[in-house]
Amino acid sequence: MDLFEYQARDLFEKHGVPVLAAAIATTADEAQVVATKIGGKVVVKAQVKVGGRGKAGGVKLAENPADAREKAGAILGMDIKGHIVRTVMIAAAAPIESEYYLAILLDRSNRTFLVMASVSGGMDIEEVAHTAPEKLAKIPVSAVDGISAAKAKEIISAANFPADVADQVASVLVKLWEVFQSEDATLVEVNPLVKTKDGKVIALDGKVTLDDNADFRQPDHEALIDQAAENPLEAAAKEKGLNYVKLEGEVGIIGNGAGLVMSTLDVVAYAGEKHGGVRPANFLDIGGGASAQVMADGLSIILGDKDVKSVFVNVFGGITACDAVATGIVQALELLGSKATKPIVVRLDGNNVMEGRAILNKAAHPLVQQLDTMDGAADRAAELAAK
Ligand SMILES: Nc1ncnc2c1ncn2[C@@H]1O[C@H](COP(=O)(O)OP(=O)(O)OP(=O)(O)O)[C@@H](O)[C@H]1O
Ligand SMILES: [Mg+2]
Repeated sequence: MDLFEYQARDLFEKHGVPVLAAAIATTADEAQVVATKIGGKVVVKAQVKVGGRGKAGGVKLAENPADAREKAGAILGMDIKGHIVRTVMIAAAAPIESEYYLAILLDRSNRTFLVMASVSGGMDIEEVAHTAPEKLAKIPVSAVDGISAAKAKEIISAANFPADVADQVASVLVKLWEVFQSEDATLVEVNPLVKTKDGKVIALDGKVTLDDNADFRQPDHEALIDQAAENPLEAAAKEKGLNYVKLEGEVGIIGNGAGLVMSTLDVVAYAGEKHGGVRPANFLDIGGGASAQVMADGLSIILGDKDVKSVFVNVFGGITACDAVATGIVQALELLGSKATKPIVVRLDGNNVMEGRAILNKAAHPLVQQLDTMDGAADRAAELAAK
C-alpha cells in the first residue's frame, strides 16, 4: 500500500525524523483554520498518490491564512494525472537553502535493500538519475545489519554530503531505516530532504510504501487504508480472504493456482479478440482447497460485478480433486439461488476429472456448460460475453 504524504509525514514524526508542523484539510475554509493554527507562511500541498505534484501545480506557497484558503480552493478538485485532489496538507513553509534526496527501498533484482542518496534532490531528481547518474549514490544495505550510525556515515560520505550537514543527514538516515524496518515498508523516500537557511535538516516530502504481506503483524496499518479509493469488489473479496483483482473486461475468471489463473487471463484475452475484443474482468485464485463456500464466495463476488457478462471457471484438479470442485460449484449455485444470473463455462481437468464432469452433468444447472479444453472454454466464455 502506498501512503499519502501526510501519512508518511506522521510515520516520520513517530520515529523521530525531523518534519514540519502540518495538518490536512478537505475544504478551503478548513485550510484557512489549519493555516492560522500553524501560523506564518505555509505550503498547500495536494494529497494524491502520484509523483510530480509540484510540477502539476499541486504545491503552492501561501503568504497567510487567507492566501492558504485561496490556494487550497484552487488545488482541491484538481486532476493530477488522473487523481482528483480531495485532501490538501498545509505545512509550515521552510526557508530552503539546499534540497537533497534520500531513499531506502527493496532492491528485488539484487535481493537486498538499497539506499539511494543525492545532494541534487528536489523536483528534478529523475532527470539527475538519468543524465548524471554519478550524482546518485546507490549503496546496498544488508537486511541483517541494517543501517547503524557507522553505516549511515559511510553512505553519507559516499554521496558527498557537505560536512556541515553530514551528521544530521546520517542521523535522519538511521531514523528512516527505523521507519523502513519497524513499519515493514518496501520504500521510504524523502525528496526533498532540505537544509534550511538556519542549518537544520528537515524532511519536506515523504513517500512510503508498506508491504501488505506484513499486515498481519501491523494492526495499526489498517487505519491507513484509503477507504474512498478501495474498489468495493476488491474490499469484499479481501474480507472473504480471496485473492481477487478487478480488471476492466467482461469475462469473470475463477481458477485454482495463481499460474493457472494468469494463463487463463491470457487465453481469454486472446480468444476475446475474435469476439469483439472482450477481455477478462478479474483475477481470482481460489487456491488449493476449493470448498463449496470458497466457490460460492468467489462466484458471488464475480456475479456482483456489473461488467461481467459470462464466467469462466478453470480448474486443474490436483490435491483438490475435480469431483470436490464440481460438488463445490453445484452447492455454490444452490447457495446463490436466483443471484446466479450469468452463464458459467466450466473446464475441469486433472485428478478425478471424469467424476467431476459427471457431477456437473447430473446437476444439469441451466447456466452451466462444460468444455473439455482451456482454449475451447475460453472461446465459449468470450463468445457468451460478447452476446
Ligand atoms: N514545507 C515546505 N516549505 C517550503 N517549500 C516546500 C515545502 N514543501 C515543498 N516545498 C517545495 O516544493 C517542492 C515540491 O514539493 P514536494 O516535493 O512535496 O512535491 P513533489 O516532489 O512535486 O511531489 P512528488 O514528490 O509527489 O513528485 C519541493 O522540492 C520544495 O522546493
Ligand atoms: Mg517530492
